[in-house]
Amino acid sequence: MPFNYRSKIHGTYTPPGDKSISHRILILTGQAVGRSEISNLLEGEDVMNTLKAMKLIGASIKKERRKYVVYGIPPGGLFQPSKSIDFGNSGTGIRLISGLISSNNIEVNLIGDRSLSNRPMRRVTEHLSKIGAFINLKKDLYPPIKLKGTGSAIPLTFNILIPSAQIKSAIMLSALNTNGTVKVKEFKSTRDHTENMLKSMGYNIKVKENTRHRFIEMKNNKKLKSINYTVPGDPSSAAFFITAACLKPGSKLLVKNILFNKTRTGFIKTLKAMGGNIKIVGKRKIHNEFIADLKIDQKKKLKSITLNSDDIPQQVDEIPILSIAASFANGLSVFKGLKELTVKESNRLLLIHENLIKIGVKSVINKFDLYIYGNQNLKNGAGIIKHENDHRILMSFFIANMICKKNNIIKDKTCVKTSYPMFFKHISQFSN
Ligand code: S3P
Repeated sequence: MPFNYRSKIHGTYTPPGDKSISHRILILTGQAVGRSEISNLLEGEDVMNTLKAMKLIGASIKKERRKYVVYGIPPGGLFQPSKSIDFGNSGTGIRLISGLISSNNIEVNLIGDRSLSNRPMRRVTEHLSKIGAFINLKKDLYPPIKLKGTGSAIPLTFNILIPSAQIKSAIMLSALNTNGTVKVKEFKSTRDHTENMLKSMGYNIKVKENTRHRFIEMKNNKKLKSINYTVPGDPSSAAFFITAACLKPGSKLLVKNILFNKTRTGFIKTLKAMGGNIKIVGKRKIHNEFIADLKIDQKKKLKSITLNSDDIPQQVDEIPILSIAASFANGLSVFKGLKELTVKESNRLLLIHENLIKIGVKSVINKFDLYIYGNQNLKNGAGIIKHENDHRILMSFFIANMICKKNNIIKDKTCVKTSYPMFFKHISQFSN
C-alpha cells in the first residue's frame, strides 16, 4: 500500500544505531590500544566516512560477521595519510577528526561534498589554532580544512559560546594528546556522548554541571581502555516514526532499544506536551548512556506548542519533523531561536518554511523564530519538495504525505543514506 494520508504506523520497531555515538565510538576505539568490538554501528554514509578516515590515519578496523573490530593506536601516534580525507556530507566527522588531528604532528587536507564545503568551520578551528595547530580554510571559513597538527599542544581553558557538541568534542579529542589539564566550559544542553564514552573507557575526565553550563576537565595521564560497545538506537532517526505514530489516528508503535539521553530526547518531551501518548518503559543504563523502550498508542489529536531557544539544542535535529507535527496540531506553534538550523546540512529554517508553504501550511519566519499555523485538516500536498539533499528535510516531508490529500513530489531520495539507509524499508514495514 502506498504511503499517504490513509497510512498509520504500527508494529515493533528497532531504530538503527545512533549516528553521534557511531562516529565517536569509531574515533575513540581508534585511539585505544587493544581489541575493541562495536555492535549495531550505524552503516550510514556519514559514519562510514569517519571509519575510512580513522583507517587512513592509522586505526585498524574490520567487519567480522556483524561486528566491527577495531585495533587502535595510542594518542599522538596518528599516521600521516597519503591523500585528502573526504567526509562527504558529515559535519560531525570533519569537525571531530579536525580536533583529534590538531594535537598530532601530521599534515592533512580535509574535504567534503558541496553542502559540507559551505558549512562554518571557524567555530572549531579558532579553538584548535590556540593549542598550536596551523589551519587554513577556504575563504577563512569553510572546508577544505588544511591542518598541520602540533605534537606539543598547549593545555588551555576553553569557553564555548555556541551550544554545539561538535565544537566541544573537537576540543576534547585534541585533549587526548595534550599534556596537562584541558578545561572546557560549555552549555549543558549539548549532547554529552564523548564525555560518557571517555568515562566508560577509563579516561581521566571530570564533568560537573550547574543549571546552565557544563564544566569538563581532562588529563591525559590515564590510558584509554579498549571496549566492547553496542550502539543504542538513534532517537533522531526514530523521531520520524515516533512523530508519525503520535500524529496519525489508530497508530500503535513499540520502539525498542532507543538511546534515552536527556540531551537527545527533547522531541519526546515536546510531543508529550503536545498531547502525544508516549510511555517510557524499561529505562536502563549501559556504558553511561540511558537506553529505553517506548510505547506509543495514539489517542488524542495534537495541540500546538511553543519552544524557547533554550529548548532547541536537545532537539536540534528534530525540528524538521516537529514542524510537520505542528502543522497538524490545532493552533499556533512557535519554535524560537533556530539560528543553528541555518548552518546545518542545508539552511533548514528556510527549507522547512518554504516546504510547509508548498504543502499548504501557513508558516512565517521572524528573525530566527518560526511560526506554524497548525490545524487538523488534511493539507493540500502535491508540493514539489525542495530538499537540497538534506536527509532530515527529505524524511520529514516524506512523513508529511500522511497529512496531505495528495502525495508530495520528492525527487532524488538517495540522500537518506547519510543517516538512515533503511528509512524507506522501515516505512514499508511499519506503515499500512
Ligand atoms: C552532533 C551535534 C549537533 C547535531 C549533529 C550531530 C554531534 O551539531 O546537529 O547532527 O554528533 O556532535 P552541533 O554541534 O553543530 O550542534
